[in-house]
Amino acid sequence: MASQQDLEFTYSTIDQIFRLSVGPTGDYSGAMYNGNFALTLEQAQRQKHRFIAESLGITKGSRVLDMGCGWGPFLTYIKEKGAIGRGVTLSSAQAAACRENGLEVEVKDCRQITPADYGTFDAVTCIGGMEHFCSIEEYRAGRQDEIYAEFFRKVADLLPVGGRYYMQTMVFGKNMIPLEEISLKAPKGSPAYALALMIAQFPGSWLPYGYEQVVRNAKPYFKLISKSSGRLDYIETIGQWRKRFRAFHLKKYALYASLLPRIMTKKEFRDLVAVFRVSPNRVCFQQETMDHFRLVFEKV
Ligand SMILES: C[S@@+](CC[C@H](N)C(=O)[O-])C[C@H]1O[C@@H](n2cnc3c(N)ncnc32)[C@H](O)[C@@H]1O
Repeated sequence: MASQQDLEFTYSTIDQIFRLSVGPTGDYSGAMYNGNFALTLEQAQRQKHRFIAESLGITKGSRVLDMGCGWGPFLTYIKEKGAIGRGVTLSSAQAAACRENGLEVEVKDCRQITPADYGTFDAVTCIGGMEHFCSIEEYRAGRQDEIYAEFFRKVADLLPVGGRYYMQTMVFGKNMIPLEEISLKAPKGSPAYALALMIAQFPGSWLPYGYEQVVRNAKPYFKLISKSSGRLDYIETIGQWRKRFRAFHLKKYALYASLLPRIMTKKEFRDLVAVFRVSPNRVCFQQETMDHFRLVFEKV
């Protein structure tokens, strides 16, 4: 699993920049355009929230656990609907920002939650968290299936029979290459190079192999209700994020400047400079080494 330190690197480093660019409770996961790119990013994110809430039957009074809640976009949406949400994240900056916005959020590993922590829930979500559940080392040790199976066992304990769980996650796609070929020394623009940059941006994280690996590991506890690919929608989402990240804001540009000394001295940050020039995830989606799936499950 990506450690807390890895996730502080990925999310807390950009905390203020993200909130100034995308909004104080902005989504940091693929939006749902359903191919209609005339929608704004905000409309497409709201469409995603509506889809999740409807798929899970979330209404006034529903108790909902949002695993990997980020800056709290889905918790904010369901709060407006009168549901009772609780979130966890491994980024302390995200948790602090959520609490400032009146959300019930703690720094906690969602994979370890049991009913003894917060009781049980009517619905559970994990919107872009599974990407971080298995590290490269765990993948190399052949532990990926075991990690996902254990995760689903724990989620099932938090729900009644018939209770629903929504997740969306990046997965490796049909053109994925062997891990050994991935390298920052590979030709720029190649899948091997784009995947190496992706690893630099998200240390400690290795993706599931297709939605099939996810569904297979969920099967003892959950049946699949619906599935859709969000790959093209994610390409659009990333394009919109990049416009917002570039948009001028004095404080934000000062924050970019404050990262420079770290970029000069730390290798991981130097690799990230390339991420500002090219979005590795977007290239991976375009090259179909990566795909993205939205999955609705029901506990059996
Ligand atoms: C891509 S962000 C998505 C955030 C949010 N769900 C959204 O849609 O904007 C991934 C989130 O998962 C969280 N995360 C990853 N692994 C986690 C774990 N084991 N326990 C708790 N949170 C985790 C990160 O801290 C981050 O908040």
